[in-house]
Amino acid sequence: MKKQTEITVINRTIERAKQELEHMIDLNPQVMLLVDRNGRVVRANRALLELIGLPDFKKILGKGLNDLFPCEDKSFFQSLLSSKGGYDVQEIKVIFGPQIYRIMRFAIVSSDNDVSVIIVNDITSEKEQAFHQEKKFKKEAVQALMGGLMHNVNQPLTVIMVQAQFMQLALEKGLARPEEMKKELQNIMTLTMQIADMLKTVERPKDFVTQPYLNGIDILDIQQSGNETAKTIVTGPASLDVIMLALETHDPGAGMHAMRTSKYAGIIAAHMNLNEKEQNIVKRCAYFHDIGKIGIADKILQKPKALTNAETIAMQAHTEIGYNFLSTFPLLRDEAETAFTHHERCDGKGYPRGLKKKDIPVFSRIVSAADAFDALHFSRSYHPATPADTALAKIEEGSGPQFDPEVVAVLKQNISEMTCAI
Ligand SMILES: [Fe+2]
Repeated sequence: MKKQTEITVINRTIERAKQELEHMIDLNPQVMLLVDRNGRVVRANRALLELIGLPDFKKILGKGLNDLFPCEDKSFFQSLLSSKGGYDVQEIKVIFGPQIYRIMRFAIVSSDNDVSVIIVNDITSEKEQAFHQEKKFKKEAVQALMGGLMHNVNQPLTVIMVQAQFMQLALEKGLARPEEMKKELQNIMTLTMQIADMLKTVERPKDFVTQPYLNGIDILDIQQSGNETAKTIVTGPASLDVIMLALETHDPGAGMHAMRTSKYAGIIAAHMNLNEKEQNIVKRCAYFHDIGKIGIADKILQKPKALTNAETIAMQAHTEIGYNFLSTFPLLRDEAETAFTHHERCDGKGYPRGLKKKDIPVFSRIVSAADAFDALHFSRSYHPATPADTALAKIEEGSGPQFDPEVVAVLKQNISEMTCAI
């Protein structure tokens, strides 16, 4: 009798301990559940209800793990349950809604695989933190790289500027000799090639900062999310935008001229039924068409009078300098070609190669007319501003010998849209 009483007490104690344990498990914020050998839920705690947003346990009992935690790897739970190790930890991505991703860590403990304990940890915030941290580090890496790069770019740029100044002095004093000018220009071109080579590193960001990154996000996303420059209509490599800024100080007004020409060219291209991709290329072609002027002496660029023959030769080199800059960027082939050909004329009397009509790329024929219209319509160092209709009349005079008649016709039809766009 006494023994029976002792057993009853022990049983009650065990039962109470079991209830307390179950209560503790039930209140545990960590999701825990018991599943049978087929992965069907036998028991679960409240944290699971909260996690999957169900009101009571009835809807959970008997459910399979794949139903509760839909994940990309359908065989994941099967291999987890058949794990002989008795303990396994893995991370999986579980999808609860169209845009909600949870990465879970599962552990399974079982001696005979009849019943297994599954513990679920939501480590989404942990992953997000790691993601933002990594993004921050990469952004800092890019900033440091850009700083170093611009330092290296500034040196040859300074040399280019100084050489250009010397050339200008020589021209002013009448001491310029064609052979020397040619040599100096060649030197400037070599330096521009060096700068372009340095800038190429920016074209290949994956080479220096993109290590394995969550969900395939790489440096380009940093540009999209954090760099306003990248969102402008004329997106090119950021480093070229820096050159464009430098050009603006070298040749005041050049930046706005580039922007306006880009807008006109985009409008003309749209009305010539070029597709959206081609329209974007034309806009970039127009924006960068005069980038080579960075290698031309500012006194030539800003000279209010007609250029001498020697100055004209120097000025014309901006097409080749621009081509050298842009052609080293594999994605800017059309832009480079336009920089090279935007002063060609349909009658073959343009420069640098004397191309004729359709031998001149269509992007360049568009940019050529847009460039000339803006140069006439807005004041430049060599002439005052003229009204849009006067500028248009001048362009029409050149339709055929200088400009592509089709481009001129489209320009004329859409002149009001062009002037409203600026
Ligand atoms: Fe030009």
